[in-house]
Amino acid sequence: MSRGKVSAEQAHLDASARALLKENTRTGRVGDREYRFSVPSPSAYPFQSFWDSCFHAIVWSRVDAERARDELRALLAWQRPDGSIPHVIFWDRQRAMRRWWHYLESRDWLVAPGLRTTLGKPYTTEMMQPPVIAQAVERVVEASGDDAFAWETGQRLLAYYRWLARERDPDGDGLISIIAPSESGLDFSPAYDPALGLRNPGSRRLGLAMRGATLRNKVMRYDLPRIFAGGGFAVEDVLVNVIYIDGLEALERLLLRTRNEAGAHWARERSATSMRALLDRCYDADAGTFWNLAGREERPSRVNTVISLMPLLLSRLPTGIARGLVERHLLNSKRFWTTYPVPSVALDQPEYRGDSILGGRKRIWRGSTWVNTNWFLAQGLRRHGYHDAAERIRSATLELVGRHRFREYYHPETGEPGGASDFGWSTLAADL
Ligand code: GLC
Repeated sequence: MSRGKVSAEQAHLDASARALLKENTRTGRVGDREYRFSVPSPSAYPFQSFWDSCFHAIVWSRVDAERARDELRALLAWQRPDGSIPHVIFWDRQRAMRRWWHYLESRDWLVAPGLRTTLGKPYTTEMMQPPVIAQAVERVVEASGDDAFAWETGQRLLAYYRWLARERDPDGDGLISIIAPSESGLDFSPAYDPALGLRNPGSRRLGLAMRGATLRNKVMRYDLPRIFAGGGFAVEDVLVNVIYIDGLEALERLLLRTRNEAGAHWARERSATSMRALLDRCYDADAGTFWNLAGREERPSRVNTVISLMPLLLSRLPTGIARGLVERHLLNSKRFWTTYPVPSVALDQPEYRGDSILGGRKRIWRGSTWVNTNWFLAQGLRRHGYHDAAERIRSATLELVGRHRFREYYHPETGEPGGASDFGWSTLAADL
């Protein structure tokens, strides 16, 4: 392919990505200040979501740095005094909380789904999502050509990653914990079945167990020490920790740009601790892969999903371990190397559903291929020298997006699209 052809294809992708994110743009106010952000999908997901906005900002940074900064400012506007940043923000007060399950994800009891007034409706959930904000800020800073945005956000980012270390690592082993499956962003992934006490469940049981875990957190009023002491759902998740470690590395570089040596030192030490813990505790040498750890007993959840491949993102991953992940798992056509890789669940798992439909219902992350995990894995493969495999993921993803536009997910074997249309983070295809 000629260079002209490549750049014409890229220009077209960037233009389609921009058009979609622009179409999904909404505004909202905090005090007298107006913010702009893109919703993940106007019909299916009408509120601002944490990691979606980080991905949107990365794509925006390719075409409009100011718009990219605004996307992240809208998230940071909701940072709490303790440093945490919520996973969903209900800017749209008309539509706020029409989805009943969001009530379980927020702290207040004063709310009722039937309440017609905007009074008593919380503005945010009490949960987290994978901490990819430092990587997003770094991309935006690099696109801007100066360090102003690093100065603007550095202290807030440090407060956030410190909050994760302080409040989400109750056993102090260096790995942070999630308290509900959807905190990982991979809501119904079978990787969480064991922690929910399930084994290859039907759709109804799975739904009930998920809501049960969230209800329990709500009853505990999202008091983290109580939740962790209570022995409910708590998982040291491989994907979340990989993104945390990668984020701490980005944070260190950002803080060095602003000459915050002490902060950069903390980020460096913390990422080294978390990296050691990931290798010592989550890696299974016999299986040649990584498992999530469930509960205080840290029981490995041996369900082979895309989560287990995520350590490839880390450039400090030892070469032998990376090779095992790639050769035994990713490039294995009985597991992850399908016509349209990478499925969210290995094909040889009994839980695998290529269309993420279980018992007639949409149960996402139970097999379909997603653009954001492909985007991470393609980067990881390049970092470890697997350029052909990265290229294969890129071309298959572009084929899917070219044929079916930006959908929520795709079937790994047939390429059939599924879930929400006009799905924001699928524009990451432009950044592959
Ligand atoms: C789905 C995804 C979650 C995402 C949300 C909004 O729930 O699993 O990760 O943030 O949609 O797009």
